[in-house]
Amino acid sequence: MHEELVRVRGLAKRFDSGTEQVPVLSGIDLTLGGGESLAVMGRSGSGKSTLLNLLCGLEYPDAGVISICGNTFDRRHPDDRHGGSQRWAALRRQRIGVVFQEANLMPALSLLDNVRLRARLAGRDRDVCQAWLDRLGIGQLAERFPDQVSGGQRQRAALAMVFAMKPALILADEPTGSLDRHTADEVADELFRLRSDSGCALILATHDAELAARCDQRLDLAHTAPA
Ligand SMILES: Nc1ncnc2c1ncn2[C@@H]1O[C@H](COP(=O)(O)OP(=O)(O)OP(=O)(O)O)[C@@H](O)[C@H]1O
Ligand SMILES: [Mg+2]
Repeated sequence: MHEELVRVRGLAKRFDSGTEQVPVLSGIDLTLGGGESLAVMGRSGSGKSTLLNLLCGLEYPDAGVISICGNTFDRRHPDDRHGGSQRWAALRRQRIGVVFQEANLMPALSLLDNVRLRARLAGRDRDVCQAWLDRLGIGQLAERFPDQVSGGQRQRAALAMVFAMKPALILADEPTGSLDRHTADEVADELFRLRSDSGCALILATHDAELAARCDQRLDLAHTAPA
């Protein structure tokens, strides 16, 4: 394994559902190095998206320690009383590329300008953005706005945004979920090529057994689900 990029110990998360606290995740341990990939699997509602949200600071755990690129987050850290939100925001801007289940594009910007904005926020080269759209098969749609393209094309634009920021860690929630088999395979090829070219770590939530089989590690939340 290359340099350790992700280390998680004893992670737990409950949600309030009105009168009771519903446990979603407990006792999650992970270790991932540069160039390694992990598939997070489990039925709908098992906590895959919740785990990805915890790993980029969009949710705050009830217990456990998360280390990403040498930045450690836990309740004992003096900056983390309110979730360590500023440290997390800096990591999300520069080091962690997140692809959500629903593509998160700015509606008032073209696909190309969305990618350029993401690259600029991460301090990266804006000239390669068109090339990323080309590689993902949507180069001819660069000047269109998000509401003028299909869901799968928006998802590929969201991946181009992540690739253009050259992150150390990619968190992708069902990145091929809205794509047909052929396009899903092409997008997955790009994800895995980027991982080997750049040495970034990749964590994917997926129901797709073929995609999961391509990953170095698999975490099945059905086997860690709290009682
Ligand atoms: N903010 C919230 N408040 C209360 N419950 C929540 C909240 N977010 C998620 N949950 C619950 O936590 C559980 C895990 O949700 P999560 O979205 O992580 O599942 P998932 O594995 O990603 O499912 P899917 O495959 O459908 O995307 C679900 O039962 C969900 O209803
Ligand atoms: Mg989900």
